[in-house]
Amino acid sequence: MVSVCFVCLGNICRSPTAEGVMRRLVEAAGLSGRVMIDSAGTGAWHSGNQADPRARAEAESRGLTLTSVARRFEPADFDRFDYIIAMDRQNVSDLQRLAGTPVHFGKIHLAREFDPESPPRAEVPDPYYGGEDGFPRVFDICEAACRGLLTHLRETRAL
Ligand code: 4NP
Repeated sequence: MVSVCFVCLGNICRSPTAEGVMRRLVEAAGLSGRVMIDSAGTGAWHSGNQADPRARAEAESRGLTLTSVARRFEPADFDRFDYIIAMDRQNVSDLQRLAGTPVHFGKIHLAREFDPESPPRAEVPDPYYGGEDGFPRVFDICEAACRGLLTHLRETRAL
C-alpha cells in the first residue's frame, strides 16, 4: 500500500481537487486497493467544511464529485503517509517546519514536480480570492500533476 496526502492552505480548493482527481485516476488504473489518498490543510479555518462550492462545481463539470471534508494537517500524518504533496511553496515551508525528522522532511514534495511539462518549482495557484477562472486552471494543473504522480508510483513502487 502506498499512501498520499495532498496539502494546501485551507483544504477546501486545491488539495480536495487533487485528492478527487488522483482517486479517479487510481480507480481507472485498477489500483484502488494499492493507493490510499487523503488531503489536509496547513490552516484550520475551514475544518469540517466541504470543499469550496466553486471547486465542487468545476469538478462536477468534469464528472467528478468531491467528497472531502476539510481537516488540518497534523504531525502524526508524517507517519501515516508516504507522500506529502504540497500545492505551493508556502505549504512546503509550513510542512517543513512541522517535520520532526529527516524522514518526515523527505516525504514533502511540490505537486507539480511530478508533471514533466511543468517548469521547475512551479506552484498550483491559490484560486480562493481570484475569479472563477482560477478553478478550471487549478483542475487542469492538478490533473497533469496527478497523472505524473501515478506514473512515478508505477515506476518506483512496482504498482
Ligand atoms: P486552498 O484555498 O488552500 O486551495 O484550500 C484557500 C482556502 C481558504 C483560504 C485560502 C486559500 N482562506 O484564506 O480562508
